Amino acid sequence: MRTIGKALYIALIGLLWAQSPEEKGKTLFQQRCAACHKVETKLIGPPLARIGERRSQEWFLRFVANSQALIQAGDADAVAIFKEYNQQVMPPFPDLGEAELKALWAYLNSVTPPAQAQPTATAPASRTQPIYPGEQRPMKREDFAFLRATFWGLVGAAVGVALLLAVIIHFVSVRRASSASQE
Ligand code: HEC
Repeated sequence: MRTIGKALYIALIGLLWAQSPEEKGKTLFQQRCAACHKVETKLIGPPLARIGERRSQEWFLRFVANSQALIQAGDADAVAIFKEYNQQVMPPFPDLGEAELKALWAYLNSVTPPAQAQPTATAPASRTQPIYPGEQRPMKREDFAFLRATFWGLVGAAVGVALLLAVIIHFVSVRRASSASQE
């Protein structure tokens, strides 16, 4: 038993460590880039969702590592975006290794467009899933499953209580009837 417990524990820790590149990239993005970038809208810098549609991975790696070096080398795309953003300097990230930059790339390209995200992610259920005011996305699948489980749990409990009551009422009335007939 002990070894099984230990193995489970190790497996759990392994699962926690084995983050996908997208998840790593998301964490990195929030820590290092979110001050100036949003994925879908302009902030200080351009929106970066699906950057792979307009830039190559190689360009991305070089730009993020040191955008000014690329701009000064005369790269046309880098110079153009630099001018478009009023020559604001994006800081270099010399401490981010290739694996981290690739994780950022993977994350940014995994972000689905908001208009398409809804029909593809929840196509059959989207009409039955309410969207509450202030909530932009439809309910998550897990939330829905949780609500369904709660609903059936409550129904089960109600039926159980009703049956119990019926049994009690039955016995009480049987007793009354028998005591009435004894009098
Ligand atoms: C201090 C603000 C700032 C931070 C922090 C920052 N950026 Fe930028 N970024 C900019 C600006 C401003 C631009 C527009 C180009 C320019 O002015 O150099 C830009 C441009 C870019 C571009 C080019 C976009 C395009 O359409 O070609 C990429 C890619 C990019 N940033 C990625 C990142 C990533 C990844 C991080 C985090 C590791 C990051 N940036 C952090 C300000 C920032």
